Amino acid sequence: MDQTISRRSLIVAAGGLLGTGSLDTLATPNPPVRTVPDMLRLIGNENPYGPSPAARKAIKNAIADSWKYAIRETGMLKKQIAAHEGVKTSHVMVCAGSSEALRVAAMVFGRNGGRMVAATPTFSFLPAYARNIDCVVDEVPLDENMTHDLDAMEAAVRTDTKLVYVCNPNNPTGTLVSGAKLSAFIDAVTPRTPVLVDEAYLDLWDDLAEHTAVSSVLEGKPVIVTRTFSKLHGMAGLRVGYAIAPPEPIKRLEKLRVTQMSYTGVMAAIASLQDTAFLDYSRARIHECLALTAGVLEELKLPFVPSRGNFIYFDTGGSPRKFMGAMRRSGILTGLSYSPYPTWARVSMGRVEDMRVFADAARSYFSQQD
Ligand SMILES: Cc1ncc(COP(=O)(O)O)c(C=O)c1O
Repeated sequence: MDQTISRRSLIVAAGGLLGTGSLDTLATPNPPVRTVPDMLRLIGNENPYGPSPAARKAIKNAIADSWKYAIRETGMLKKQIAAHEGVKTSHVMVCAGSSEALRVAAMVFGRNGGRMVAATPTFSFLPAYARNIDCVVDEVPLDENMTHDLDAMEAAVRTDTKLVYVCNPNNPTGTLVSGAKLSAFIDAVTPRTPVLVDEAYLDLWDDLAEHTAVSSVLEGKPVIVTRTFSKLHGMAGLRVGYAIAPPEPIKRLEKLRVTQMSYTGVMAAIASLQDTAFLDYSRARIHECLALTAGVLEELKLPFVPSRGNFIYFDTGGSPRKFMGAMRRSGILTGLSYSPYPTWARVSMGRVEDMRVFADAARSYFSQQD
């Protein structure tokens, strides 16, 4: 093959793919790609304030090195997470989003005819994955405050239960189980079964130390805590999360973790953890959005659960599907409805200005309902 022609045709082909005709444009930022054009995304509990300025810079710098597997860099991130959490590196598993830790935990504890206890409704990823590998999941309804009913969950633990899943704060209801209650539950249950506490949203608030189950991990109890860079750090698309547990469960989880980390994701996470100014800003904006949205729901006299997440679960008073459809026609993707609350729906926080758009659309929708 003619070397000159093939190299030239490659360049032209690459340029064609980029829609430009020249590789020079690789240095030029692409226009933003919107998967759903012009729709506000108030549906996925994402954080559009991220990634942090430091993380964006790290991502740009990392692009050229992205031919590498991020082995050394993942080790660096693990050390940084251990220091941040006040644990040893042997307590940490870094993974591709916290859902990878949930998936691996579902496999470790749910395979070969396992059995688990989980609340309902809750973040369904782990229970659903477990069911898919033929694990039995004993579901325990939330209490009348839409909070984990820890007494009922304790009562649901059987001799063959392999894991209890507690999502704290809970998605979709946003309710928090206090650190004191959770630690009493862990003390009561862990002699019989390990507990996984999903703390995806706990770092959105300054009182994390009071409520986190990491203290139980440090006491050597069979507890796994999962965290993510998807929420406070605004990096859902970069897929970085981690689990904290005693060294033995970490080893068991690591054995089934097959994913190499994304180089850019790891470099972004390292930078983001240090960007405390951004993390404070992000937290403050999420709180502002929650207050604004709660204010509108109060004004509209719609019951809602005060939320510790970046979302609010509220009663539409009618069909959530109809509400979601109306929001969609106003250019807003909003979600989701969960059994057994047939009239309730969840709205995720976006930017403050996005929530003002949502507020106007909600006011207009509910003014037309009887
Ligand atoms: C409670 C909870 N845990 C875990 C996740 C998964 O997050 P990720 O895999 O992006 O870390 C989510 C995502 O919405 C969530 O709500």
